[in-house]
Amino acid sequence: MITLPHHFEFLSDAWLDEARNFLEREGKIRKEKLGGRAFALTERFTDAPPHMKFPDNVATWSVRYDGETVRVARDFDDSANLVIEGDYQAALTAAQFVGLLAPGAWTVMQRQVATIFGKDAIRAKGALVDPQAHQLVALLHDHLGRRTVENPDLEHRARRQGLTGKIREMEENGFAVIARAIAPEFADEVRTATLRALLPHQAFSMNWMLYHGRELEQLIQNPLMMTLVDASLGRGAVIASFSCIKKGPGPGLIPMHTDYAQVPEPYPEFSMTGVGVWALEDWRVESGPTWLIPGSHRMRRAPRSGDSREGGVPIEMPKGSVVFFTHGIWHWQGDRTEPGDRVTLHAHFNRGILRSLEPKKTDVQLLHRNSPRLGEMLGEDDWFDKLSASGRDHVRFDYMLRLNAFTDKQKKLILSDTPSMRSGGSQG
Ligand SMILES: [Fe+2]
Repeated sequence: MITLPHHFEFLSDAWLDEARNFLEREGKIRKEKLGGRAFALTERFTDAPPHMKFPDNVATWSVRYDGETVRVARDFDDSANLVIEGDYQAALTAAQFVGLLAPGAWTVMQRQVATIFGKDAIRAKGALVDPQAHQLVALLHDHLGRRTVENPDLEHRARRQGLTGKIREMEENGFAVIARAIAPEFADEVRTATLRALLPHQAFSMNWMLYHGRELEQLIQNPLMMTLVDASLGRGAVIASFSCIKKGPGPGLIPMHTDYAQVPEPYPEFSMTGVGVWALEDWRVESGPTWLIPGSHRMRRAPRSGDSREGGVPIEMPKGSVVFFTHGIWHWQGDRTEPGDRVTLHAHFNRGILRSLEPKKTDVQLLHRNSPRLGEMLGEDDWFDKLSASGRDHVRFDYMLRLNAFTDKQKKLILSDTPSMRSGGSQG
């Protein structure tokens, strides 16, 4: 297992131990409320990552409360009141969702899993009808979610998310489009939250969008985009900036450029920065989408005056899609010839060894209502900048060294394009 000591992987022994500790403690505190009413819950998830070493890659566990004591076990219990089954990566996506008891949260979590993995990826049979049992299990889910990391096996994760082909495309062209990465209803909610935050004095664009609502927190952690971030910038990438742009009809206002501000040329062969632009309406040529020149990253320099836009393509994609471009690709804002506003969110990430554009405003409540994924992009796992009186932070240093070694190894496997990898296909 490659995690920091206060984190764990979904359904690992450490995860199960933490579930047991939590339930034993809370079971005692809530004994009166639970009223001696027995309940049982069990889960079984297939296609777990091989490094977890589950028999046949199937992960199972169960909780049984007999009205007196709680028993947490590794076995699957078909007779439980609530039986949940499905795909491990889909379940892990749900497991990283924190805040289940908030109004509407259950729907948001299910919608995200269904959008990525299909509506039958996780199936439930039965229910926990007792409200106290239901509440206890929801609190357990949140408690574990705050400590559960994303699947560190990039190859396995990308395959389960249908992104293997997209990673190869990104390496070849410097960008990839993930169509319908979020549900159209969620795109509408993000658009509303963005317009709510956009102040009159910043009518065109605004930074620090992470701090303007739950919708924005969830968008920047989108698991599909994060797989492209991990594949291009390595683990431990940090938010460089999270900005919005509202653009009405008229010529594009951002000329051809790269996102490598003040980076000496030639640019390195590896990517240092990447931006995911979210379309919150359908993007057609008339909408004034982002345009970019596929493969322009191979020039390893910024465009100069007189450089032509030849070979540029408009990014046409449906509402709720994201285009992720990296490697110093040449791009610009298109002309908008249709009425109304184009409202976009720009999730800009930097490799973890670099500084950000936005100074981070780490809020403990923000971290508390999210999985470690958000902490990672806010520098919580940063292996620099943590020197104490006793020396450097060897725990984080060693952790990130091992995590990035595993990520690089699995990325090579993705790019090796062996026949067995072709089954990964491409999403959207
Ligand atoms: Fe840009």
